[in-house]
Amino acid sequence: MIELRNITLKYGEREILKNVSLTIKDNTIKAILGPSGVGKSTILKLMLGLIKPNSGQVFVDGTDITSLKEPELYPIRRKMGMVFQGNALFDSMSISENLGFFLRENLKLPEAEVQERVAEQIKFSGLEGYEDQLPENLSGGMRKRVAIGRALIFKPHMILFDEPTAGLDPVSSKRILHLIRTLQQSSNLGAVIVTHIIDDVFSIADHAAVLYQGEIIFDDETEKLHQSEHPFIRSILSDKILEL
Ligand SMILES: Nc1ncnc2c1ncn2[C@@H]1O[C@H](COP(=O)(O)OP(=O)(O)OP(=O)(O)O)[C@@H](O)[C@H]1O
Ligand SMILES: [Mg+2]
Repeated sequence: MIELRNITLKYGEREILKNVSLTIKDNTIKAILGPSGVGKSTILKLMLGLIKPNSGQVFVDGTDITSLKEPELYPIRRKMGMVFQGNALFDSMSISENLGFFLRENLKLPEAEVQERVAEQIKFSGLEGYEDQLPENLSGGMRKRVAIGRALIFKPHMILFDEPTAGLDPVSSKRILHLIRTLQQSSNLGAVIVTHIIDDVFSIADHAAVLYQGEIIFDDETEKLHQSEHPFIRSILSDKILEL
């Protein structure tokens, strides 16, 4: 479980997050919806301890990570797989090498175990036959599946997605959302999905939070968005703007 408690975050003089509180429970999919530049990626960086808030605390499974130092954060980060918006794959490495990289470099697992886990991920992500290809030879949807596979290979119990469908065509988007749902159900994973696409929220998230002008203006079951009286939420629903 991840909890942000009364978080305020400034970049220079600009206050990006104002007293933000949020809870992500295990075994559920929670979306964080907000317009471009509102601070969605910043929230994920706070959850991973990559940046520190100006005030407030971040808890991961009950541990306050706010004042932990780098090496102390490693075991915490291993609980959370991160899928970056641009995938962050290594361009010059094959798909198999990308998948196995952190197991070799960080966990220093024996080669046989690395290969076993890589093969398992290749199968789960539907990447058979592409093991030796470079990322540039794959479609956007397949590259996203590699990035998801690389995040899962640590066997995290929570997975964080930064705009998982941005830039994908509608069919690939659906496949990725379906994969996320399958994952959550088959492995009991918790997932956080940061997005500016309201369609994604309705199609996959059990719970949703809406971030607007530095504040959480909604945090409840996704279906309850329809009952919100907040003008911003009403406008995105009534105008049927699918992307903010
Ligand atoms: N390291 C930084 N230094 C200064 N300003 C930053 C820094 N990182 C982000 N910002 C600014 O903070 C705001 C929030 O950034 P963030 O990347 O969290 O937004 P976002 O909601 O993820 O946006 P997008 O939809 O574009 O991905 C933006 O205005 C951004 O320009
Ligand atoms: Mg972002």
